[in-house]
Amino acid sequence: MQVIETISELRAAVFNARLNGLKVGFVPTMGNLHYGHISLVEQACEHCDLVITSIFVNPLQFAPHEDLDTYPRTLEADKTQLMESGCDILFAPSVTEMYPDGKGVDTVVDLPSLSPLHCGITRPHFFKGVATVVVKLLCMVLPDIAFFGEKDRQQLTIIRRVVKDLSLPVEIIGVSTKREKSGLALSSRNGYLTDAEKQQAAFLYQLLNEIRQRIENGARDFQSLERQANQQLAEHGFEPDYFHICHSETLLPAALEDKKLAILAAAKLGSTRLIDNVAFDLI
Ligand code: PAF
Repeated sequence: MQVIETISELRAAVFNARLNGLKVGFVPTMGNLHYGHISLVEQACEHCDLVITSIFVNPLQFAPHEDLDTYPRTLEADKTQLMESGCDILFAPSVTEMYPDGKGVDTVVDLPSLSPLHCGITRPHFFKGVATVVVKLLCMVLPDIAFFGEKDRQQLTIIRRVVKDLSLPVEIIGVSTKREKSGLALSSRNGYLTDAEKQQAAFLYQLLNEIRQRIENGARDFQSLERQANQQLAEHGFEPDYFHICHSETLLPAALEDKKLAILAAAKLGSTRLIDNVAFDLI
């Protein structure tokens, strides 16, 4: 596996690959890789000839009070996992390489209707930072296909929308969430949880499935279901952030006639913020 730190070297490598007719796959990450990320790389290997993974902890998507400085950085372990999973190029740029003028940029990608929903309620800066860095990375890599996890469903929806709105020549593939046996969605932030909290954390996915089941069995008072779910989260030691039943493609609040649904939730356990979701079609 080649490790590249500069945009110019990355562009040269992709240019060569294209000259040789290779199909390029891209997996953007912030590192501290777990099997959730590796499954994206595996999907990329299945669909593409040259697989590029980026590791960049993007300052633009962290608010000043968030965990930018303490976000787990495990580059050497990440390299080993990537090598073993068949990744061809690791792109690991510095902050100066990505943002030569310091951490800011004047040009941003923002989605005024999608960004403020769900995670955007408590993290108003977040999706602007994500969308901006993802567009920058896509312009650097110019992949045929880019892979994103369904665990971050709002992020995936936003990226699909950006690609559509800006006519970016890339296909986006969403990859299913990978979970611990308990159901807990794999996440880099799970490393912040104590063993006891990890066990408790699995309740979030159980609850998502319980509410999904109730909807599949005919429950339609979505607001009341959301209220009950928040109450159950609090009873299980979580500090609920949101629990939203919505349309799985628009992510707007679900209407009674909607058949394509998703339930998105975020809650804090101790100081760790967890997110998860389930999507399902009613028949
Ligand atoms: O999902 C992530 O790890 C990040 O939000 C991403 C897409 C790599 C952008 O920094």
